[in-house]
Amino acid sequence: MAKHGQLDRLPGGIETALPEAERGAEYDRLAKAYDLVVGNPIYNRIVWGCPKRAYDAAARRMLDRTDGPLLDFGCGSLVFTANAYRGHEQRLVLFDRSLGMLERAQGRLPGARFIQGDAFAPPFAPASFAGAMGWGMLHVFGSKSGYLAQLRDLVSPGAPVALGTLTLAGRNPGDFMLRQLYKQGEAAEPETRDDVIAAFERHFTLEAAEPCGNMLFLSGRRPDS
Ligand SMILES: C[S@@+](CC[C@H](N)C(=O)[O-])C[C@H]1O[C@@H](n2cnc3c(N)ncnc32)[C@H](O)[C@@H]1O
Repeated sequence: MAKHGQLDRLPGGIETALPEAERGAEYDRLAKAYDLVVGNPIYNRIVWGCPKRAYDAAARRMLDRTDGPLLDFGCGSLVFTANAYRGHEQRLVLFDRSLGMLERAQGRLPGARFIQGDAFAPPFAPASFAGAMGWGMLHVFGSKSGYLAQLRDLVSPGAPVALGTLTLAGRNPGDFMLRQLYKQGEAAEPETRDDVIAAFERHFTLEAAEPCGNMLFLSGRRPDS
């Protein structure tokens, strides 16, 4: 793995790329509720129409695609992915903006590497990773935000990438909830599956697109050139 930018190690072992004055994040105060509500299997099945085991399965498929260092680019509290990640601690870099989310993640997967930073100014050299994934991130920022471009820059040519993101899917209550999250400033303007797939294909070679209710799982590779 390429050398990372300047990082400070905090008590407890989480590393941060951010100056002290910028280490707070909105998700810090949401972390507990996130685990209780967003991580709840019934909420996921009813609101988003996607069972929690689908998230776990998508993460496991990604882990099988490379033996090299892997980045979770917005890992949150690992409420969906900790079980899949167990046993892969040595090759995972778990990155998020919120220390509150990272602390919960660390509790679920001690022994992995946790780094606080901003996905739009990541502390990693280009092509640092053999693969990268972003679960539940693209609908927060929107496909025009630059998130996909960052993800592409961070993996080596030909490397696998995977995403899970909420889209409009012609179903309620998921479509309604996504619009509410947008109105409350907690998500980007909702996009259709086709919009998201087209955005993904501008950065990656698409290998699979699997809708699961409002959730859309995408996997592909960074093109060689
Ligand atoms: C909807 S949650 C998804 C978390 C996790 N991947 C999951 O599936 O549960 C969005 C995450 O994005 C993180 N986040 C928000 N802005 C960020 C930024 N600029 N850089 C990195 N992470 C960010 C939040 O702290 C939060 O953990």
